[in-house]
Amino acid sequence: MANKHILIVPGDGIGQEVTAVGKKVLDAIAKKFNHQFTYDSALIGHIAIEATGTPLPEITLQKMKAADAVLFGAVGHPKYDNDPTAKVRPEQGLLKMRKELGLYANIRPIKLFDELLDASSIKPEILKGADILFFRELTGDIYFGEKGRKNNGDTAYDVAEYSRYEIERIARKAFEAACNRKKKLCSVDKANVIETSRLWREVVQQVATDYPDVAVEHQFVDATAMLLIKDPKRFDVVVTANLFGDILTDEASQIAGSMGMLASASIGDGTGVYEPIHGSAHDITGKGIANPLASVLSVALMLDISFGMLSEANAIIGAVDEVLKAGYRTRDIANAATVSNKILGTEQMGNEVLKYLSAL
Ligand code: IPM
Ligand code: MG
Repeated sequence: MANKHILIVPGDGIGQEVTAVGKKVLDAIAKKFNHQFTYDSALIGHIAIEATGTPLPEITLQKMKAADAVLFGAVGHPKYDNDPTAKVRPEQGLLKMRKELGLYANIRPIKLFDELLDASSIKPEILKGADILFFRELTGDIYFGEKGRKNNGDTAYDVAEYSRYEIERIARKAFEAACNRKKKLCSVDKANVIETSRLWREVVQQVATDYPDVAVEHQFVDATAMLLIKDPKRFDVVVTANLFGDILTDEASQIAGSMGMLASASIGDGTGVYEPIHGSAHDITGKGIANPLASVLSVALMLDISFGMLSEANAIIGAVDEVLKAGYRTRDIANAATVSNKILGTEQMGNEVLKYLSAL
């Protein structure tokens, strides 16, 4: 029996709908495994800007630091997307949170549930058995370097910067994970062109000497983008910089059938943050059709990584597997063969997961 305090930060768009399901799953786990979970909630993103004028209010940050883990939804609003002049943006809240909490490692497992082999636009025989663990560096790179305009605003710049220690700590996390898997690590950079990538490769090569059992491959990011689709099974653990990781993990989500299935953990110096990799999806917000499984699987990652509750995490993954086996789908993972009365909304899908969880 453990006591844990969890902060729910739904953010914008479908973040609200999917974290509501995530919380119900946490409750079910607490009941089943005799834990005590307490909750609080806080604002971030567009909804925080509307309420307080800032995308990451101080109180949210305080609550995050005080919590044992954060269940996060998404941030973003279409109103800013077509307004490049907006000075205050929802995403700034997310980036500030990552920096302030020292969340330097973003872990994104890409695992295809067998039942979803047909949900991807990639051929099933290419996909079957694919299982990739991405480590995306999350607090450096072009995301956080100096940015600005010059020449009367006609020229813009974003500086990409990495220090040795920043590369080393994410590399070590990835090597350690590789030791517990297939002992295979692919480090992705663009060392043929970019200086930060040359330092990246140098540091990863150095760190590799501490892990002689792990087979290391260095790849250029353009080649990785191609190979992920051509032969996803060749990858096991992948480690890469912030921007490359952002792009490659969206691409890799198609290996798992849908963005709606992918969970992520952001960890570092303090509280871990668990969130779907999908965004706020305003096109479907409020319709009750968003896939809650990425949030549910984010809860599983939280239990495993932040709380060391492996059986609890596996119970959730098992329940999701059963629900999919029973043929239930949200719209994003349905296909022509899906029986129409098995296409469920957000809440209904959550309820199916809860049913299987309690039956375990
Ligand atoms: C992600 C998102 C964010 C990122 C956006 C919303 C700022 O795409 O978490 O992958 O670019 O990191
Ligand atoms: Mg992204």
